[in-house]
Amino acid sequence: MTGIPATGMPADAVLAALLDRKQGDRDWRRGRLAVYFYWLDEELERVQQQAYLAYWTENNLGQRAFPSLKSLEDEVIAMALSLLGGGERAGGTFTSGGSESIFLAMMAARNRARTQRGVARPNIVLPNSAHLTFDRAAEALGMEARRVPIGADLRADVAAMEARMDAETVALVGSAPNYPFGTFDPIADIAALAARSGAWMHVDACVGAFLAPYVRRLGHDIPPFELNVPGVTSMSADIHKHGMAPKGASLLLVADAADREWHKFESCAWQRGPYAAYTTQGTRPGGAVAAAWAAMNHLGEEGYLRCARLIMEAKAIMTAGIAAIPGLGILAPSDLGIFVWRATDPALDIAKVAAALDAEGWLVGRQQEPDGIHLHLNPIHREVAGEYVEAVARAVSAARGGQTGRIGANERTY
Ligand SMILES: Cc1ncc(COP(=O)(O)O)c(C=O)c1O
Repeated sequence: MTGIPATGMPADAVLAALLDRKQGDRDWRRGRLAVYFYWLDEELERVQQQAYLAYWTENNLGQRAFPSLKSLEDEVIAMALSLLGGGERAGGTFTSGGSESIFLAMMAARNRARTQRGVARPNIVLPNSAHLTFDRAAEALGMEARRVPIGADLRADVAAMEARMDAETVALVGSAPNYPFGTFDPIADIAALAARSGAWMHVDACVGAFLAPYVRRLGHDIPPFELNVPGVTSMSADIHKHGMAPKGASLLLVADAADREWHKFESCAWQRGPYAAYTTQGTRPGGAVAAAWAAMNHLGEEGYLRCARLIMEAKAIMTAGIAAIPGLGILAPSDLGIFVWRATDPALDIAKVAAALDAEGWLVGRQQEPDGIHLHLNPIHREVAGEYVEAVARAVSAARGGQTGRIGANERTY
């Protein structure tokens, strides 16, 4: 076990040790990962870093002390609401990430149903392609998560969801899009079902919020998923994904700001005085808010459209190139920059293909069902789309020639 060093290291040595420690990590700037990061260019990176540093130690819990942070947060929420169909009554909360936004939405749904409908044993009904963070939230909140198989079109089966509902269903969920396939669930139909039953309807747009509206403007067919769809109660929208902000930035948006009260904690039950929070965090990094504000203002609609164009071009190049390689196929449909490819030739072992790609330095995301390879593209992939297709072709030849190892189940990457 390593203890805290008895004497401190000089500043330069500390930084040198950190940079040295990173040597073995994957180089995300070269586009060799299609998971975990979002990157456009060095200029945006500089804007993010400097904005974060400008507020590097300010605590966003202390908005009395730092009113500028409150104004930045309000503007971030207002910009998102105007993009995502928020009306006069809409509101939002800045959170640390998609998982926190989703946790708060599920907590609000439970609390509302408990107060208004006396629900004692709450459940949520969701398509089985929804992010597992819903199950984690349900477990922590004492709710049952009822996962319903999706249809052959890789979208939520609304009739099957309805069949799993009962008087204690407090929330319905739809993804815009889901992470495994990149498909949009029929949000309008799920929301209509929620409106009929009195359930809270949460749209998980962690991936789609800051990309889908721009992909739609490029002419692609994106179904309505926004807050103005009748029956939608809330939406998780990650700025640290396609909003292009550094980590620690998501929003929980609500169609009616009054619904924020259902995820508010408030108490005076200690000596220090009243304490209230709309998030699960107490102390909150001011840098995350400043950097999100900076990314949104630096990119503007023009910048987001550019990101959307680069991603969709990368996807077109990759999917056409991979589909042309004998023995491989693209799983369809997929609506944004997420897609899955797999072996259509039973003689081709996808695990060997994955191992060969990994050996060339591409971090492989293995899809469990169907057995395949998952990519979640960001703008940097436009530059490497052709290289990736060539690497896949080489990996397939290596796998067919038996010149590679296998990536085992325990090495599956998220
Ligand atoms: C659709 C979807 N929802 C929720 C999440 C969870 O977000 P986070 O990792 O920011 O907590 C993710 C993360 O990839 C996601 O893709």
